[in-house]
Amino acid sequence: MTTTTVGTTTVGTTTVGTSAADIEFHYDLGNDFYALWLDETLSYSAAVWDGIAPGEPDTTALPRAQRAKLDLHLDLAGAASDAGFRLLDVGCGWGGLLTHAVLTGRAGEATGLTLSRAQHAHVRGLALPGVDVRLESWDGHRPERPYDGIVSIGAFEHFATADMDAAGRLAAYRGYFERCHGWLRPGARMSLQTIAYDGVAGGDGPVGSFVAAEVFPGAALPRLGEIVTAGDPYFAVTAVRASAEDYARTLGAWSARLLRARAEAEALVGPDGFRRYRRYLRACEVTFLRGAATLYRIGFRRRDEPLRLPV
Ligand SMILES: C[S@@+](CC[C@H](N)C(=O)[O-])C[C@H]1O[C@@H](n2cnc3c(N)ncnc32)[C@H](O)[C@@H]1O
Repeated sequence: MTTTTVGTTTVGTTTVGTSAADIEFHYDLGNDFYALWLDETLSYSAAVWDGIAPGEPDTTALPRAQRAKLDLHLDLAGAASDAGFRLLDVGCGWGGLLTHAVLTGRAGEATGLTLSRAQHAHVRGLALPGVDVRLESWDGHRPERPYDGIVSIGAFEHFATADMDAAGRLAAYRGYFERCHGWLRPGARMSLQTIAYDGVAGGDGPVGSFVAAEVFPGAALPRLGEIVTAGDPYFAVTAVRASAEDYARTLGAWSARLLRARAEAEALVGPDGFRRYRRYLRACEVTFLRGAATLYRIGFRRRDEPLRLPV
């Protein structure tokens, strides 16, 4: 078990996956910096671009595409305009899904988990009725009542680390699905969005090394087979959608917005910080465009009785 101390404050306890210190390294660069180039929902994950014309300015296209993503996940999690619906968002970022779910009435109560203090403070500051945010890892989460649906977008990449072998990753991912099974009511649904390897695992060369060392330390990408195998005892798969293009287009929009906000960004994170993020966004865009990584959105239905599968 890793309890991480940053400065004088203990920020979280994780038994598996990216440490809280590595999460802080990335996310606590400052809410104002991310607000410069993310859309107004502060979504920090691939949007859904279906039906959005390539020529539409990113000022309107990106928030539309991000809301389409949020709706897709709420659909997959079975959140359909029910004031009694209790939603869990594992890795809630700056609260875009929690906000969207309660303001559209698709959930009555929405709980978010994050390991980032800056994100936690931001969501608490929104003071939205029905929204609860916790500075807590999924493996330490103990809800008082079952949830009706779970969404997790862009956090699964942090649930294993690069030094784990295949058996270690499977155990870590299976632990996540087992917990989700325990938190959900019978018949409930859940959704997951994650970056993944499709070709050779780890085959993203210098781009991956740069991102791992300079931007996202302590993260690891799964393969689709690993996700499905890990979840199989507890969940049936209801939908799988692959779209590397969705992430490439999102990264292109973020890059353009960061470039337009260069002066403000340099004032907040310095010229080196600005350059590092520009390089990271462009490198990731190229990674998706050349198919070295892909993006999955997966729907699941809880099995009432976990399957006993041969090991
Ligand atoms: C790329 S951000 C995505 C945020 C948000 N879902 C979105 O789409 O904008 C990843 C999020 O996962 C969270 N996270 C990473 N590991 C976690 C863990 N073990 N438990 C809970 N949250 C975690 C981070 O704190 C961060 O909020």
